[in-house]
Amino acid sequence: MAKSMFRPDLLAGHRILVTGGGTGLGRSMAEAFAAHGAEVVIWGRRGQVLEEAAAEMREATGGTVTPMAVDIRNAGQIDEAMQAIFDEKPLTGLVNNAAGNFISRTEDLSANAFNAIASIVAHGTFNTTVAAGRRWIAGGHRGNILSIVTTWVWNGSAFTVPSAMSKAGVAAMTRSLAVEWGPKGIRANAIAPGPFPTKGAWERLMPAPLAAKLGGGTGADDIPLRRLGDHFELAQLALFLMADECEYLTGEIIAIDGGQWLVSAGNFSQFTRLDAADWEMIGQAIRATNQQDRAQRTT
Ligand code: HXC
Repeated sequence: MAKSMFRPDLLAGHRILVTGGGTGLGRSMAEAFAAHGAEVVIWGRRGQVLEEAAAEMREATGGTVTPMAVDIRNAGQIDEAMQAIFDEKPLTGLVNNAAGNFISRTEDLSANAFNAIASIVAHGTFNTTVAAGRRWIAGGHRGNILSIVTTWVWNGSAFTVPSAMSKAGVAAMTRSLAVEWGPKGIRANAIAPGPFPTKGAWERLMPAPLAAKLGGGTGADDIPLRRLGDHFELAQLALFLMADECEYLTGEIIAIDGGQWLVSAGNFSQFTRLDAADWEMIGQAIRATNQQDRAQRTT
C-alpha cells in the first residue's frame, strides 16, 4: 500500500459510493478508501473508463471496487442504481465528487450552458444524497456524506458562475443536512480543495491556449505554500472524514488549498514577495513619517 498516516483497516466494514470515482480526485479518494479496507462503488458516465479504473484499483489495493455506469443528471438512473446497491448491502458513506465546469464570460452563457453545470453539481448531488439518505433513514442506518466543493463557496468565482452558484448550494446542503439528519445518525461534511491538477478540470479551466498566453505558469507562485496540491493529501483528509473515529465532526467545510483563498481576503497579501531590503526601506519611510508628525506636534 502507498504511504498513509492511517492504519490499513481504518475503513474495514465500510461501504462507500464515490460519484465521479473513475477519474481525477474521485478516483484518488476511491483508491485510498479501498486501500484502507472499504468496499467501494464508483459511479461515472463512461462505462469503459469506470471498468478500467476499477480493475486498476483492485489490482493496486487488493480491495473491492465495483463500477456502475450512472449519469447523476438522471434522477431515475440514480434511484435505480442506489436501490441495487442497498439491495445488496447498505452504504455507510457517500462521496459527492462528480462535477462539471468550464470557464466562460457569464454574459456568453445560455440557459443550457448553466444547466450543463447545475444539472450535475446542484441537482445531481441533491438527488444522489437524498437517494442514499432516504434509505439510511428508512433502514435506521447511520450514514456519512462527504461533498467536494470549492473555496468559491465563500468568495464566489468570476468566469465560473454556474459552478460557484451550484457548489455554494452544496455547501448549504451540507450544513442544512448536518442539522436535519444529525439526530438520525447521519453526518455531512465537505472538503473545499484548492488547485489539485486533474485532467477534467484543467482542460476546462486552463485550456492549453490560455495557459500559453498566460506564460505557462501553474499559479503556484500565488499560493502561500507556493505549490499545487497532491492528490495524496486530499485523500488523507477524505479518509479522516470517512472514519468512525471522527464521528463527532459534522456540518464542516474544510479548505485544503495551501492557504490560497485567504490571499484575496487581506489587503497586503502580495507583500509576501518583498525581501529584507524592501522591509528596511518600508520601516525607514514609516519611521520618518512618524518623526515628522512628532516634530509637528512639539512645535
Ligand atoms: C460558453 C459553453 C462553453 C463555453 C459549453 N457551452 N462550453 N458556453 N462557453 N466554453 C455551452 C454549449 O454551447 C451548450 O449550450 C451547453 O454549454 C452544453 O454544452 P455541451 O458541450 O453539450 O456540454 P456537455 O456535453 O453537457 O458537457 C459539459 C460538461 C463537460 C458536463 C461540463 O465539460 C464535462 O463533462 N465535464 C466533466 C469534467 C469536468 O468538467 N470537471 C471539472 C470539474 S472542476 P447551448 O445553448 O449551445 O446548447 C470543478 C471545480 C474545480 O468542479 C476547482 C478548481 C480550483
